[in-house]
Amino acid sequence: MNIAVVYKSRYGAAKRYAQWIAEDLKCPIYNLSEVKPGQLDNCGAVVYGGGVYAGSVSGLKDAFSLFNKDLVVFAVGMAKPTEASAAAFKDKLIPAEVKDRTALFQLRGGYDLGKMSFFHKLVMMLVRGVMKKGESSPGEREKFKNKIVDFIDRSSLKPLVDYIKKTYK
Ligand SMILES: Cc1cc2nc3c(=O)[nH]c(=O)nc-3n(C[C@H](O)[C@H](O)[C@H](O)COP(=O)(O)O)c2cc1C
Repeated sequence: MNIAVVYKSRYGAAKRYAQWIAEDLKCPIYNLSEVKPGQLDNCGAVVYGGGVYAGSVSGLKDAFSLFNKDLVVFAVGMAKPTEASAAAFKDKLIPAEVKDRTALFQLRGGYDLGKMSFFHKLVMMLVRGVMKKGESSPGEREKFKNKIVDFIDRSSLKPLVDYIKKTYK
């Protein structure tokens, strides 16, 4: 089946994951901003990923209106994924009418305070304490003291890639 990967990424985390997924699935990859309506109509499913900003996945609403088909969504955020956050994302971000054809995976991103806009840096400095509390080990909590925090991990893509291979062979 034809699959395409589409992403929206402000600082590059969702883009890196999208590139790895496209490599693993040997399929085309697009930045959301360059996809025209109808362009991916011949795809059986679209894998869409974006950074998480204030609890929402960047570009997801546009993805739902552009791609009227199965969507495999990956949400790239700093907070440690939990079952509760997965349930909250599904509840809040996936409209009832597309729930049965939308799958959701949570991945961890990163940030470099030195590369952020002034406003984003301010927000991150305010919320990193909250994210730090969600960590289970002192080592992980320590990471949040740094200017550059990186939880991007290619191996965390395995469940998503396996799901796509199994569902859309
Ligand atoms: C203004 C702002 C708000 C954010 N809100 C959240 C959030 O609600 N939950 C979360 O897990 N991460 C949040 N993050 C962290 C980003 O999701 C993380 O840096 C991610 O890697 C960004 O992906 P991107 O570079 O592909 O856009 C926020 C970052 C910024 C700058």
